Amino acid sequence: MTKLVVHNLNKRFGGLHVLKDVNFEIEGPELIGLIGPNGAGKTTLTNILDGAIKPNSGTVYLNDRRIDQLEPYEVARAGLGRTFQVTRSFRRMTVHENLLVPALALDHGLDRTEINDKAMEVLEFLTLDHLRNEYAQSLSGGQQKLLELGRLLMLDADIIILDEPFAGVHPTLMKIIYDYIGRVNDAGTAIILISHQMDSIFSLCKRLLVLDYGNLIADGTPDTVKNDPAVIEAYLGVDDDETDVTTGDQAAP
Ligand SMILES: Nc1ncnc2c1ncn2[C@@H]1O[C@H](COP(=O)(O)OP(=O)(O)OP(=O)(O)O)[C@@H](O)[C@H]1O
Ligand SMILES: [Mg+2]
Repeated sequence: MTKLVVHNLNKRFGGLHVLKDVNFEIEGPELIGLIGPNGAGKTTLTNILDGAIKPNSGTVYLNDRRIDQLEPYEVARAGLGRTFQVTRSFRRMTVHENLLVPALALDHGLDRTEINDKAMEVLEFLTLDHLRNEYAQSLSGGQQKLLELGRLLMLDADIIILDEPFAGVHPTLMKIIYDYIGRVNDAGTAIILISHQMDSIFSLCKRLLVLDYGNLIADGTPDTVKNDPAVIEAYLGVDDDETDVTTGDQAAP
């Protein structure tokens, strides 16, 4: 069973202390929301978990293997994948080729026909099959997001981190992303979902982690978290029972 253990993680950029003694564990195919105001440290945490940057101190273990000093391709092989807030496809490769690259690079033991069949399945599921021979750079912003999600499916990861998958996505594509999250999670993959869209977070996740200025200020069920005074204060700068953290609405005076 997937187990991620994050212990006392610290990250500094010069004088800026961006992650401060962050601790949490994930066990099994949980679907966890990672939320927090802009600049809270969510993407930095993701970059550390996938090996793109190294922490100043602290450790990350995935399935009992230490991964915080590994490179991203090694972390991907160990079973953790992520999407980027700003999408990063191979722009001058076709949509289809973009899906083949991660599977071929990771060498999961599938032959080329199997990888190709899997890519076709993924394209169909993401409704990108009619675009398979187009260059990735010709896709819309929302379609680029779908392509990244597809590349992640090709990895067969144990745990995936989705960094703002709904941002800038047309409402017609939202349902596909919702279905993706449900299907991948049902298949046994743990998911960390980063989003500022609270309605999506609250409808999908059973556990929330809240970062604020690099501090993990809450870790619990959506109900507990949304009533937590520290969370309300972090989001709105007020500690006020009259404020609904799920919408940001304040009750009329
Ligand atoms: N490479 C870097 N060098 C210096 N400062 C950085 C670097 N990366 C991030 N930061 C700073 O670290 C802090 C956390 O940024 P991060 O991108 O992790 O926040 P976030 O929670 O993902 O925000 P958002 O919701 O806007 O995406 C910010 O103050 C940011 O400016
Ligand atoms: Mg971010």
